[in-house]
This record gives sequence, C-alpha cells and structure tokens, in this order.
Amino acid sequence: MGAGSVPEWVRGRAVCGAGQGHSVKMEKMRLRQGNRACVANPRELMAIVSKPFYITTPIYYVNARPHLGHAYSTIVCDAIARAKRSQGVPTWFLTGTDEHGQKIERSAALAGRTPAEFAAAISGEFRNLWQRLGLTPDDFIRTTEDRHKRGVQKLFRVLRDKGFIYKGRYTGQYCVSDELYVDAPAGSPCPDCGRPTETVSEENYFFKLSAFERPLLEYYEAHPEFIQPEARRNEVMAFVRGGLKDLSVSRTSFSWGIPVPDDEKHVVYVWMDALANYITALGYGSDAPEDKARFEKFWPASVHLVGKEIIRFHCVYWPAFLMAAGLPLPGAVVANGWLLFDKSKMSKSVGNIVRAETVHEVLGADALRYFLMREISFGHDGNFTFEALIQRYNGDLANGYGNLVSRVVNMVHKYFGGVVPEAGALGEPELALKKTAQETVAAYGPMFERYDFAGALGTLWTLVAAVDGYLTASAPWKKPADRAEEDHAALQRRVLATAGEAIRLITALVYPVLPEATAKVWRQLGQGEIEQAATSGQLTELAWGGLGAGTHFGEPAPLFPRAEKDAMERMQNLENENNLTAVAAVSTAAPAAEAAPAAAEVPAAPVAATPIEGIAQIGIEDFTKVELRVAQILVAERVPKADKLLRLEVDLGYEQRQICAGIAQYYEPEKLVGRKVVIVANLAPRKLRGLESNGMVLAASVGDQGAPVLAGFLEDVPNGARLK
Ligand code: MSP
Repeated sequence: MGAGSVPEWVRGRAVCGAGQGHSVKMEKMRLRQGNRACVANPRELMAIVSKPFYITTPIYYVNARPHLGHAYSTIVCDAIARAKRSQGVPTWFLTGTDEHGQKIERSAALAGRTPAEFAAAISGEFRNLWQRLGLTPDDFIRTTEDRHKRGVQKLFRVLRDKGFIYKGRYTGQYCVSDELYVDAPAGSPCPDCGRPTETVSEENYFFKLSAFERPLLEYYEAHPEFIQPEARRNEVMAFVRGGLKDLSVSRTSFSWGIPVPDDEKHVVYVWMDALANYITALGYGSDAPEDKARFEKFWPASVHLVGKEIIRFHCVYWPAFLMAAGLPLPGAVVANGWLLFDKSKMSKSVGNIVRAETVHEVLGADALRYFLMREISFGHDGNFTFEALIQRYNGDLANGYGNLVSRVVNMVHKYFGGVVPEAGALGEPELALKKTAQETVAAYGPMFERYDFAGALGTLWTLVAAVDGYLTASAPWKKPADRAEEDHAALQRRVLATAGEAIRLITALVYPVLPEATAKVWRQLGQGEIEQAATSGQLTELAWGGLGAGTHFGEPAPLFPRAEKDAMERMQNLENENNLTAVAAVSTAAPAAEAAPAAAEVPAAPVAATPIEGIAQIGIEDFTKVELRVAQILVAERVPKADKLLRLEVDLGYEQRQICAGIAQYYEPEKLVGRKVVIVANLAPRKLRGLESNGMVLAASVGDQGAPVLAGFLEDVPNGARLK
C-alpha cells in the first residue's frame, strides 16, 4: 500500500469493538466442530465464547512520584478488570511506566542521577504502590525493557518499509513537559500546558500523518464508540478536520530513548515509543510462541483508558500508526477527567498533590477506591477534598454498608447461632425489598459498563439504605409485648434471611470496587473466598435466594471503623511531612535544604515593635501562603517593543516556566543566564504584552528610581528550594 492512500483494512474489514480479534460466531462454530466434549459448564462456555477483554492505563511518566491522579485511572481500570474477570471473560489488564524522553532525561540530570537509575527508582514506586493498593494488573511494562525496545523498533521498521516514514528536518517549537511538537511561532507557550516552548531545529524522521486525515475521519464516523465520551470525540474530530501535518517521530538532540533501527543517532519520538507499549507488552516484536499467542488473543485492545489531555495522542497518532502498520484498532479510547485539588489539576508541577499512600494508611485502599468511583462523575473533572472523603467514608461505608453487614451478621449469630434460618413465607416488606434488589441488580451492570460508576454505586447504596430501613422498620431485636413468641421467631427468621440475602447481592455487585471489604463480608456470610467466587462465576449468579438456609456464617469482623476527627488531621500531617521532602528527594541531589522544618515550627524572628505606616502586619499563616522558591534562569531575552520587559525561562528543579520581569533597563539578558534568583512561585498567571508570566522575580527596589536589584544567595542552593 502506498503512502497517502486509504489503508486497505480500513475499507474492507470491520475491525472495531472490544476484543474483536475473537468472533463469538467463529468460536461457537469451533465448539460445534469438536471442542464440545471439553466444555464442562456454562461458565467454561462463557470463557471460550467471550471476546477477550484487554484494558490499559496510560503508562506513567517517571519524572514524578505517583499521586492520586495516577491512582485514579489505575483504580478504575482495576475495577473494570475485576468485573470482567468475574463475568468469566478472559481479561488482560496492563499498566506500566513511560521512561524515555527529554523530560525524564532532564529530571534525572537535575536529581544528579543517570536516567536509567532515576527511571528505575520511580517506576519501582509506581509498581509498589499498585501492589500496596491491592491492584491486579496482569502485566506492568517499563519502556526501558528489552521486549519493548524490540517491539518499538519493529514498528518503526514496518512503518518505514511501508513508506510511511521519511527523513526531513524539523524546525519549530517543542514542549518538553508534554513532549509535544507545537505548531506556533518562537516564544509561544505550549497550547496544552501553557509552559514555555523551546525552539528545536534537528534532522528528524517524519511519519506521514497527513495521509491519515481522511481515513481517521471515516473511521470516527463509522465507529462512534471509538472515542468516549462524546465531548472528546467532537474535540478530536475538530482537530483532525483542521488538517494534519506530518509528525516528527525521532529526535537527535538527546539520546535517552530507543535508537531508530539502522540510524542510531536518532531516538524514537517518546510518544511513538510510549503508545507502542500497548502492543509490545502483549508480545508484538517477539517470535516466541507464547508472545505470539497472547498478542493474537488480546489485540486489539478493548479499552485504552486515558486522561483527557492525552486524547489526541491516542485518538489521532496511535490509530494512524496502527493503520499504517496494518494492525487493527482498539475498540475504544475512553477519557477520564482530572482529579482536582484546591481547584486545579492535581499535579506535581502545581504542587497540589495528595498521595494515595496517605489515604491508604489512614482509611484503607477500599475507601479510596470507593470515593474516587462514587464521588467523581467519570469523564468529568472532580474535586478531591479530605472533608468529602471522610464524609463519604463515614456516611456510605462505616455507617452504611459496614454497619448494615455488622448488624445482620451479629443478629444471625445472636439469634440463630450463626446459621442462616429458613425465611418462610415472605410478607409485603420482604417482597418489596426483593423487588428493589432485583431492579438494582438489573440496573447496576449496564451502568457500570457505560462507565457510570457513580450512578451504579448510587443505585446500589439506595438498596443499602432500603435494607437498613427494612431492618429498622421490622426491628427483629425487639419483641412487642403483644406479639406471640412464635410470631416473633418467625419474623426474626424472615427478616434476617431476607436481609442476609440482600447483603449477599450487594456484596457480589460491589466486589470490583471494594475487593478487600467484600472478601471479609463474603467470609462472614459463610460464602468462602470471594476471589475464588469471582473466578467460579458465583458473583454473577445473582438470582434472589442464593443464600441457602443452613449456611454457617463466619465470625463478625470490623469492616470500616468510623473515622474520627483526627483522621483528617493525620492525613493532612502525612501530606505536609511528605511535601517538605518531596522536592528535594525527586528533583535535587541536595535534600538538606528542603528538609528544613516548616515555617510554623521555626522560632519566630524578632518582630518590629512599630509597624511601618501603611503596611499592615501579617501573621505567619499569611506569610506561608506565599510560595517563594529558588529558580535558575535558563533563557533571558528582550521582549520586542517593550523596553522594560525581559522574557525569562527559569528552572525550578521540578519544572520550567516562563516569567516576564520588568528589569530590562537594568540587566543585560545574556548576563542573567545561569543566575539563581528568588521567585514568587504561586502567583496566579497573568499576561504581559501577550506573554504569559507564571510568577514574579524578587528584587530590592533601590534609590529614587526604584532600580531593581535581584535577590540572590552567597551559598549554592538547589533549584526549587523553598524560602521560609
Ligand atoms: N506518559 C504519558 C502517557 C503515555 S500513554 C501511552 C503521560 N503520563 S502522565 O504521567 O503525565 O499521565 C498519565 C495519566 O495520569 C494521564 O492519563 C493523566 O491524565 C493522568 N493524571 C495525571 N494527573 C491527573 C489528575 N490530577 N487527575 C486525573 N488523572 C491525571 O501522560
């Protein structure tokens, strides 16, 4: 197929849909033709005829330690994977780390470590955290692994051999933070993140992305489910309709990447390298039979779950690479919104992160999973606050589900020696509860399947409340004086068997979201190990009446102890302690400067007895709102037609940013490069002469004219160190 033509498979083959590599019809035929004798039960049949399900998270950059934003997508994928596995669907869940590129190379240099060491350390943190949170990926890929390198080089070769890659020269802007080529004049900020772009002029290989404008649009039209939610689909389609230019897919000005085959002075563009993880992890590029089989079985992916800001890479570049390589396209790219903290995207560069470890340590992994999936309307941005977390935890888990289970299990022990009684004839309240439970079972699955986790859990918790209300109304613990002993015993049997059954259904449904708690409940309900139930299909057999009379309940055990007032304080303290060391540990090789005690703990400096007129005194809490940091000037240039302004690019250790400073009449730009200054790092961005300024450089104002004299240090201080 020549470059520029519509790839053959796009016209001829229907290749979309989850796990389309396996057609149910074909499998059924195969079964009829000979495999029938092996099929023991409907679940095995299900496992054979189901389309395999392959779900991926984005692979995380290793320039920063994991935070809740990263945990969010991984937790959502984990819950989906658990749900699929429990339906008997052959499932593969992949996550990993994105370790190459200029951004990582620079972060490593700033930390005084080699990129390989640096990447290994942070990748290890991601892997450990997922383990600690009880997540169940089937594979964790690192882009520095040989298997990945081999696959990326194969993909590059295939695209080049097919005529989709040619050599050229790229001169233009590049955003290192997003690893994005930016089509804008020099000096422009990145349209995605607003950080300064750098001018790059290098010999590069180009991918003929422009040839895929029409095939991509045709594909989006024919497969409306390919990009979800709808708003993202519209965004991507508008972008492609705006015209696609060929894409530079190699870099030559640094070396931390995968060498281009047969031309090793180039490294593969980090996004081509990263996107390929979805196939290399399955075995693309390997001749080993088990790799080939895995690739055959699971490619194309059913779902790539990604953050909304990286949708273009996944919905434009990735399908174009796949089309060019003659590989089928994934079923869907589904975008999650951002987790916000203090109203902005939680991110290391903003400095507003909360770590999953903190929530895990104080409330447990299930609390975090539940909060993220219940509180955030998937696809939209959602706020994280400790207050909301504790409210959900206490309201829904401790006082809701946890308390309900404990009441019922304790009563079955108290009144029936731990053995589930015969329900007997159901009365109106039981029939009403049964109906609500059946409706909930019917509604929950489809909501979950369409990523409406908040809706699904909301519905399920309506059932929790209904069971609670039913218990309270029937009060099996209280015998009215005018009720005969026999009648009361019958009521106790009926109520506890009914409530126990409802709890069984709730527990089976919520297992993917609360795997730890439901494991305990399953044992308390005398059902054994929930992980085993999940693999044997027990969790999807949700007809009313599965909790047989005579079942022996396990011992009651606490599920979600109520979070008291100190829980929030403990989480906040853990975060504060972490923040004090984070910058130093990740970004600089000199931790001592950052590990200094917080301002509040430092003995107060003597305060002037008489405040200067016109300047109000402030408390330490006001001062600590101002984030002062050491920054090193990387670039300084005059701003055309603005004689007072200099445009600076400064390095804060953990990020670079653009600041405009009114010092042009007093400082020669070339003399400023390399100098360390003090900046106000948390000043809201503002525009000066059309340029965004992210912070303010501090200077003493000297003499009648108020000449600026830049603040600085006599000792060497690491970039990013905070002034307190
Ligand atoms: N390495 C690329 C992805 C390559 S995939 C082939 C990357 N890495 S990242 O570490 O910056 O982001 C990884 C994912 O984490 C993205 O989907 C991003 O949206 C998500 N999140 C990072 N911070 C987040 C929030 N505050 N909230 C929700 N998700 C966020 O991009």
